[in-house]
Amino acid sequence: MVGGLPSVKGNWVKRFGVPPKVRRTGDLGQEGADVRCVGANKGGTAGIISSLDCKRSKGRFYFVPAARPGPCVATQVRRKETAMGQKRNRVLALALAAALVLAMAGCAQKNSNTNTTNSNANTSTKKYKIGIIQPIEHPSLDTIYKGFQDGLKEQGYGDKVTLDFQNAQGDQSTMNTIAQRFISNKDDVVLAIATPAAQAMAAQTTTIPIVGAAVTSFTAAGLVKSDAAPGGNVTGVSDAAPVDAQVGLITNLVPTAKTVGFLYNSGEANSVAQVAQIKAALKAKGLATVDQTVTNTNDVQQATQALAQKCDIMYSPTDNTVASAMPTVAQVSNTAKIPIIVGADSMVSDGGLATAGVDYLQLGKNAATMAIKILEGSKPATMPIETMTKDYQIYINKKEADLFGITIPAVYKDAKLL
Ligand code: TRP
Repeated sequence: MVGGLPSVKGNWVKRFGVPPKVRRTGDLGQEGADVRCVGANKGGTAGIISSLDCKRSKGRFYFVPAARPGPCVATQVRRKETAMGQKRNRVLALALAAALVLAMAGCAQKNSNTNTTNSNANTSTKKYKIGIIQPIEHPSLDTIYKGFQDGLKEQGYGDKVTLDFQNAQGDQSTMNTIAQRFISNKDDVVLAIATPAAQAMAAQTTTIPIVGAAVTSFTAAGLVKSDAAPGGNVTGVSDAAPVDAQVGLITNLVPTAKTVGFLYNSGEANSVAQVAQIKAALKAKGLATVDQTVTNTNDVQQATQALAQKCDIMYSPTDNTVASAMPTVAQVSNTAKIPIIVGADSMVSDGGLATAGVDYLQLGKNAATMAIKILEGSKPATMPIETMTKDYQIYINKKEADLFGITIPAVYKDAKLL
């Protein structure tokens, strides 16, 4: 963001002094405006307006006051060029107007209609600001965030932090906007849930500490120099499960299988890394493999149908794109009578046959412990990546096993049946 300024030339300034209970909507002009919270709402969430806190109507964006309770000032910034990969938003001009008089009693109250928990402006104790970025919605990632919140509370940090949770709903440019929001908000630490979120965040800041949660391979994703000594502003917890255990599920549950079909998004570094390892192990056992990749959730149904024609059993790693369309994958798998082994328990609950996966609630708690260490002065550069590989668990979907006529072998007598 441009420091100093303000040059109002060619730009306009809109002001909002909207107590949260007054559901008035101010015209912001467009997405990408920069918002400052002023007056009694100084502690409120500043940042860049994204589609997350706007309603779109007739091609224009309207500020939803509930998203940022209390008086705010919005200044126009250059609109993002649209497609991802293009230069991120840069503030053209930023003009801070005088504090607004509209501040009324109670206007800095926490608003329950939003995921953003604003600090109470009447409290003088400083709270740490934590931004949480999640790339897409699927149950496993939601569980991680729950574990993170539980972990903070269990360690006495529940009241010491302000959490700003943002979900990009599968959109890369929204992810970049969220990253910008956390940067302009000067968050103390960011929790990046899953690889795409950690990459989006790390691409935009080398100073704000980032804790990556459930990033399969920090090295493959280009986020750290090494797991033992990350060397930059990123550390975190990997959800990699042992390759042998995954391969064992394939060969033990469908011993007659000759060809294994891989379903994943080739743009997800986490998936590419897992697939390469599992393929190598399968090849060493003399099995053939075939790939069917997707680029977004819209591709998933057709890709699964095509893949099912070419293999005896399918495999999908902890791929965020596939996971968010898992019920569709399961339908295709059931109809084609080709089972699918998956990377995580949530994908088993959603109709996958089985997994060797880690405990994501616990993973979220471990990430909270790392975030707290950072708030207390530790540096990500010297905090080794943590793994949960030893604590994995076998999960089997009994209904799916029955559907495919699979008798669960004795080696899996301790498996959790979902
Ligand atoms: N490991 C994934 C990543 O690195 C994130 C993830 C966690 C995930 N749990 C999952 C993906 C379950 C799919 C299903 O991005």
